[in-house]
Amino acid sequence: MNFAQAIISWQKKYGRHDLPWQHPITPYRVWISEIMLQQTQVKTVRGYFTRFMEAFPTVSDLAAADLDSVNALWAGLGYYRRARNMHQAAKIIVTDHQGNVPVQPELLVQLPGIGTSTAHAIASIAGNLPFAILDANVKRVLARYYGIEEDLEKTSIKKMLFNSAQALMPPSECRTYTQGMMDLGASLCGKVAQCSHCPLREACTACAKHLQTTIPKKKKRKQKPTRVKHYLVLLVKQQVLLIKRPADGVWPELWCLPEFEDAPSMLSTLHTLSSNSLIQAETIEHSFTHYHLQIVPYILTLHSTKQLSNHVQQAWVHFADLNQYGMPAPIEKFLLSDILDHQNMGVLV
Ligand code: ADE
Repeated sequence: MNFAQAIISWQKKYGRHDLPWQHPITPYRVWISEIMLQQTQVKTVRGYFTRFMEAFPTVSDLAAADLDSVNALWAGLGYYRRARNMHQAAKIIVTDHQGNVPVQPELLVQLPGIGTSTAHAIASIAGNLPFAILDANVKRVLARYYGIEEDLEKTSIKKMLFNSAQALMPPSECRTYTQGMMDLGASLCGKVAQCSHCPLREACTACAKHLQTTIPKKKKRKQKPTRVKHYLVLLVKQQVLLIKRPADGVWPELWCLPEFEDAPSMLSTLHTLSSNSLIQAETIEHSFTHYHLQIVPYILTLHSTKQLSNHVQQAWVHFADLNQYGMPAPIEKFLLSDILDHQNMGVLV
């Protein structure tokens, strides 16, 4: 049995068939799932995908929605540029493709947020077309199969792996093959290889040479810098002041607490507000890809709602309505658990 046949037979018997985006498989559903899965694990994506489809069952529904409601359903998934690109792409699909998500990679890559690998995933899974993908799971399977001990992030190695992936792609049953490669990488050929059940074990180099633990080569973890920001939590009874973040930088266009670079700049803003008390709450830690963020929250209870100067969009939001606002996950958690706990204990009133 050749490589592709082995993968296809294995997928049919042992692969995943219960993923929400497989029932039914449509280009729209596959596209949304692939965007969500770009940086997020399957177990997290399941719930987000189902809620997203309930809110936006078609491309037209997504295109007609405002970004705020898309962001609200994305909140917690991270990498928010994905949501904005997807929303823009939906509008283009409605105007340029009559609302039908294309399955040809050359059309897909023209849409915001879709690179070659995602385009190939949509083409092969939704269109059943012979275009190979190379995500982390597939890379690991191929690197072990060919016994590649070098750094897989090297451009020359990536190129070689991509060419191999394309050469192995069968002309038919492409959907099952692609899903099989992902499924194998997520199960038997995961971090800990379980070669005895693997459909590729007889021809796999890593298995023959006992290199499963050294391939893929471990990346050297770079130390990430830490940045500190000061956040203001303005409260009036059960309401909190949120501001809309700018379109550039982290958490683009999400609703958040007012942010300050340092304590003095925050304190100068506070002079303009008459307040009861100022409490510094426990620092919140959050990690981004390139740095750790420490958020120092200051809680200030006001007598009446006020607007902050120099923030374009701001809103006083009742705690009961917070889930309608797309907020960064650590801020949402802080407001919904920590602040509510404080309030319930009577600390802040
Ligand atoms: N990761 C990216 N695409 C996937 C898919 N279709 N199934 C499982 N994991 C994935």
